[in-house]
Amino acid sequence: MAFPATRLRRLRASIPIRELVRETELSVRHLVYPMFVVAGLEGRTPIASMPGIDHLSIGAAVEEAGEAAALGIPAVLLFGLPASKDAEGSGAWDDEGIVQLATRAIKAAHPDLMVITDLCLCEYTSHGHCGVLRDDGVVDNDQSLELLARAAVSQAEAGADAVAPSDMMDGRVGALRAALDEHGLDETPIIAYSAKFASAFYGPFREAADSAPQSGDRRGYQMDPANALEAEREALLDAAEGADVVMVKPALPYLDVIRRVKERTRMPVAAYNVSGEYAMIKAAAAAGLLDERAAVLEALTGIRRAGADIVFTYHAKDVARWLQ
Ligand code: PBG
Repeated sequence: MAFPATRLRRLRASIPIRELVRETELSVRHLVYPMFVVAGLEGRTPIASMPGIDHLSIGAAVEEAGEAAALGIPAVLLFGLPASKDAEGSGAWDDEGIVQLATRAIKAAHPDLMVITDLCLCEYTSHGHCGVLRDDGVVDNDQSLELLARAAVSQAEAGADAVAPSDMMDGRVGALRAALDEHGLDETPIIAYSAKFASAFYGPFREAADSAPQSGDRRGYQMDPANALEAEREALLDAAEGADVVMVKPALPYLDVIRRVKERTRMPVAAYNVSGEYAMIKAAAAAGLLDERAAVLEALTGIRRAGADIVFTYHAKDVARWLQ
């Protein structure tokens, strides 16, 4: 026999050796749990498109954040649904706005839990776009930057431990960094949604956040799913403008992009396991087609293996329980 047969199976022969050689760790300490806080709501109401996820009043958000913290989840991401919307999305930078109030309440009750605020105008604009519109109905990139900067400062002043711009306007990371620094908020990190694709997998979220564009779509500012080199360029630009963490979103159809962004930027990388990815597993499990626990753990391990340091996921509380 010219060669001894390779015996990779030896590494799978027992639980101790399998665990010793495991390359990727899925642990609760990498997870961020997104929550939807609604102005004027009492208690909580289920979000039909996202089974297991609720619309929360501020009080319920404090309670939910406490549950996440008790499970060892290090951070939550806040989305706000304001009482009223307008063309500019002024609710986004209202110091008494829904995200600002929720941030203060959560930080007061759970000071060690990290609060990340999603920073975008789409939940606050009457037209549902992520920036302000020009007369011709196209998003005005540079005018939107000023409004986003105001919102970032307002969120950070309310106590956000990091801001996460998800709007995809060009130059926003630099604009936010400058505005935060000017206000003495130079210690507030920016977790930039850098490679955010124009994705069908945001469908359930747009119901949850009441943020579907009233006309047109987001392809003018979100990325073409076909492009990975462009994703690298977006991430490199955000890094150069001062992003502390770069994000790829969605996660599962873009595992190659996560890997490439990680290798190209050498930055901390986050991946967002979005509403459609969540709803897909939930629906298949409810229909008896998938083992939910096994499917979720495998999917999230794959996202980590692709190169994500941080995983934003609606499954976070379940995963924390399963890993206990
Ligand atoms: C808002 C925003 C979206 C998501 C996060 N921030 C929706 C969108 O761009 O349409 C999607 C999150 C999810 O689907 O879970 N800009």
